[in-house]
Amino acid sequence: MSTDQSSWPSLAEDHILLKFHARLPKIIEEAGHSDIWGVKLSTAEPPEFSTLIILQKYLRSTSNDLEKSVVNLTKTLKWRKEFGLDKKKEQGTEEEEDFGPDFDGLGYVTKVGKDNGRDDIVTWNVYGAVKDLKKPFGDLQRFLRWRIGLMEKAISYLHLEKATIPIHDSSSTATETNNIDIYKIDQIHLYGGVSFLRMDPLVKSASKATIEIFQNHYPELLLRKFFVQVPLIMSWMFTAISLFVSVETSKKFQVISYPTNLAKELGNPNDIPKELGGNGPDLKMLQQRLEGKI
Ligand code: HEM
Repeated sequence: MSTDQSSWPSLAEDHILLKFHARLPKIIEEAGHSDIWGVKLSTAEPPEFSTLIILQKYLRSTSNDLEKSVVNLTKTLKWRKEFGLDKKKEQGTEEEEDFGPDFDGLGYVTKVGKDNGRDDIVTWNVYGAVKDLKKPFGDLQRFLRWRIGLMEKAISYLHLEKATIPIHDSSSTATETNNIDIYKIDQIHLYGGVSFLRMDPLVKSASKATIEIFQNHYPELLLRKFFVQVPLIMSWMFTAISLFVSVETSKKFQVISYPTNLAKELGNPNDIPKELGGNGPDLKMLQQRLEGKI
């Protein structure tokens, strides 16, 4: 269920966000698709809050260039349709692709409590646990389906479809284009135990393809990205891979050498495993906690 614009700070008639909203009917018609991140983009008047949040992300990512935002959103909607990302929901089936043992223990989604009382949604990529690169990375399309699935799962916990302005920001223009957007996720790469010391072509193509997709189709969703326990001998890879990434994105990157230093950057230690400096259980259990299974 979505709320309407009533909880959004009032916008001048000629505000760029409303101009973008007015272009939606054509965008949806051209793309033949209107689902994104759990939200069905709506052309209704007054505009729905969750639709505005998404349009605002596209505007931010282009520094308020309306024409670019229209093109980018159209491309994303076409891509989502082609990739079949919203198909399951359309058909009412919740069946997930089973990626099998090649991906066991490589990715998790959890939440970490913050001092402000909110939870951050966190995706974990345990790339250091990969022992045979051919298993997860040998079939690029399969890897991408898995990695994008993890991203989509994390985003689903942001509950964008129920997005409203947070209470303590309601007197401000927190959702105006220059202000804080709370609908973002943390991403963490764990590289401890990594057993390959060179940039394998399989890793290179998997990371390049993932970075490109995230850049094109998941704008303004990254809060912070941590690279934990990068072996000293591999620290050059940070510079090498960062070259594929936009400057704005790379500003959100932080390398953490000692795994136990991660907890103080992230938040509530009870939501972080012991080996990463917290008091919590392992990532598998933390994910089950988020899923409400335990
Ligand atoms: C991104 C895998 C080593 C730094 C990625 C991505 C993959 C990947 C698949 C795509 C983005 C994602 O999944 O979120 C691996 C594997 C490694 C390895 C298997 C082991 C050999 C390293 C090392 C560093 C590093 C040692 C140094 C810090 C980065 C950076 C990105 C990245 C900066 C870009 C992140 C982004 O834009 O989201 N890596 N990586 N990687 N990796 Fe690694």
